[in-house]
Amino acid sequence: MNPLRFGLIGCGQFGAFLARAAVATGRLQLVAATDSDAARADTLAAEHQAAACADAAALLAHPAVDVVLIATPPALHMQHAIAAARAGKPVFLEKPMAIGEHACEAINAAVREAGVNLMVGHVLRYFEPYRAIAAAYRAGKLGRALHLSIWRLEHDFLNISPWKGQRAVSGGYLYEVAAHELDWLRAMLGEPTAIQAQITRQPSSAHQLEDTVALQLMFPGGAGVHYLGGAGFPRNEHGFHLRFEHATLNSDQAFDPARVQVASSTGLTAADLGFGDADPYSIELNAWLDSLATGSPPPITGEDAAQTVALIEAAYRAAGW
Ligand SMILES: NC(=O)c1ccc[n+]([C@@H]2O[C@H](COP(=O)([O-])OP(=O)(O)OC[C@H]3O[C@@H](n4cnc5c(N)ncnc54)[C@H](O)[C@@H]3O)[C@@H](O)[C@H]2O)c1
Repeated sequence: MNPLRFGLIGCGQFGAFLARAAVATGRLQLVAATDSDAARADTLAAEHQAAACADAAALLAHPAVDVVLIATPPALHMQHAIAAARAGKPVFLEKPMAIGEHACEAINAAVREAGVNLMVGHVLRYFEPYRAIAAAYRAGKLGRALHLSIWRLEHDFLNISPWKGQRAVSGGYLYEVAAHELDWLRAMLGEPTAIQAQITRQPSSAHQLEDTVALQLMFPGGAGVHYLGGAGFPRNEHGFHLRFEHATLNSDQAFDPARVQVASSTGLTAADLGFGDADPYSIELNAWLDSLATGSPPPITGEDAAQTVALIEAAYRAAGW
């Protein structure tokens, strides 16, 4: 089968990475790239023998573009996703889906009207150890979820891209970072039934993000969740204590399955969780491509991802932000 030809809107750090991951599937070929920083589009296009387009409209009008990947800052997701849908192109849209529930509804309406496929890139669902833990939970190996504590604390986050510190562009820390874990929690436990939130921020900060954000969530079945995040910590820390009926799973390096410690009342071990070693971005993109090939809905639809945005908005409201 010939690879599908894709156009990429947003050739920054993640867009360039995503383009390489897409090409590595062997099922996608980059044919057009655009970025408001023309040099970035030129560089990526040259790397892939693709066309560099002046803007998103030119990319969407390019006759070789079959499907579109979007990796622009979140404030632009709505305009780019709607434009791609109206051009009749299937869309892979990076997380967070958009800023605000209305923006998500507008994207979903455009996608429905155009009858195109749209998947949102909540890749944490495919990352180990998260994928395997959710699968073990669904399979009943862990028993009921009792209390899950997750922390993702950042120190040097804003060295990456300055726009991430502007709430109007990134949406804030919950949108740009916590969206990963909040989406994973929703996918595993369902929609939360209660939420409390506290946010602190030094008024003197050079950025507009939360220094600390603490969420207390309740999920159906009585599972409690505590999430701690923020951009104002003295060092980066990313870990979890996940307490289920039959096992407690601890890690101080949340993306390293080898660091997961399991204490179980039923003899469950880390080996029983079945961690895989496949590249999560490859799994994610292949899942999207499979949905395109079969005409079935993608695994993470716009309606689904909009619920993560609704949760983020509920958290901000609960914190009075
Ligand atoms: N799934 C993941 O693991 C993951 C990781 C990092 C980032 N992301 C997401 O990817 C997206 C991009 O983040 P990033 O880290 O690459 O940021 P970035 O700043 O490195 O890249 C964003 C790019 O968009 C370009 N851009 C801005 N306005 C544009 C416009 N109007 N038209 C075309 N291009 C425009 C910028 O010039 C920049 O090159 C965000 O939604 C972010 O949340 C996802």
